[in-house]
Amino acid sequence: MAEAPLARTILAPSLLAADFARLKEEAAAIERAGADWLHLDVMDGHFVPNISFGPLVLKALRPHCRLPFDVHLMISPVDPYLTAFAEAGADHISVHAEAGPHLHRSLAAIRELNIKAGVAINPGTPASAIAPVLDLIDIILVMTVDPGFGGQKFLTSQLPKIAAFRRMVEEAGRPIRISADGGITHANAPEVRAAGADVLVAGTSVFGAADYREALIALRGDSGAASPGKVVP
Ligand code: DX5
Ligand code: ZN
Repeated sequence: MAEAPLARTILAPSLLAADFARLKEEAAAIERAGADWLHLDVMDGHFVPNISFGPLVLKALRPHCRLPFDVHLMISPVDPYLTAFAEAGADHISVHAEAGPHLHRSLAAIRELNIKAGVAINPGTPASAIAPVLDLIDIILVMTVDPGFGGQKFLTSQLPKIAAFRRMVEEAGRPIRISADGGITHANAPEVRAAGADVLVAGTSVFGAADYREALIALRGDSGAASPGKVVP
């Protein structure tokens, strides 16, 4: 029987909602507050209608934060940039299922770099789109908003897809994380976890809070689990 999905929820705050004039301090602060991973949203103004940052920013932050860098590439093409992100310090790279015609090739290239491979999937794309490449996937990043911007409203329509992925993962019988990204708050976190997500990406609800530790505790839905300094691969 596969590991119970609710046993340990990974919290991955998205730096997109941090103060961009103080990224170093923000990354260090979220680690101290008890985050598990740091989620980094890379946008190219082409695949999504917004531009954020690239590998130079990751490289500059890498010495200041020990958390795994969970990199979400909202770019197309993606393959020419994988090595640059890995060399800049990415521990996980997720590419979009919709970013190009060669998802299998992109995932194989990420694995060649000896880091974890993820696939992000837009709200309009069915779960079945990634079933044929599941053997190459470590993380399924389910978009619960249309990618491109922080601060959008969570799409409850995506909950059945999270549940479908949970069934798919249990059948696969290997450890694949299911991450939910977009509009996650302490109010909807319980239903997102109950549907089967074991990673919560949250930007506004964490970096927009006055107290990051309190925000993480609220997301986790308990009071004991946000222990600082712990690194979960
Ligand atoms: C959206 C990004 C998300 C976003 C999350 O394109 O992938 O990671 O920054 O931010 P909130 O939690 O504000 O929706
Ligand atoms: Zn993201």
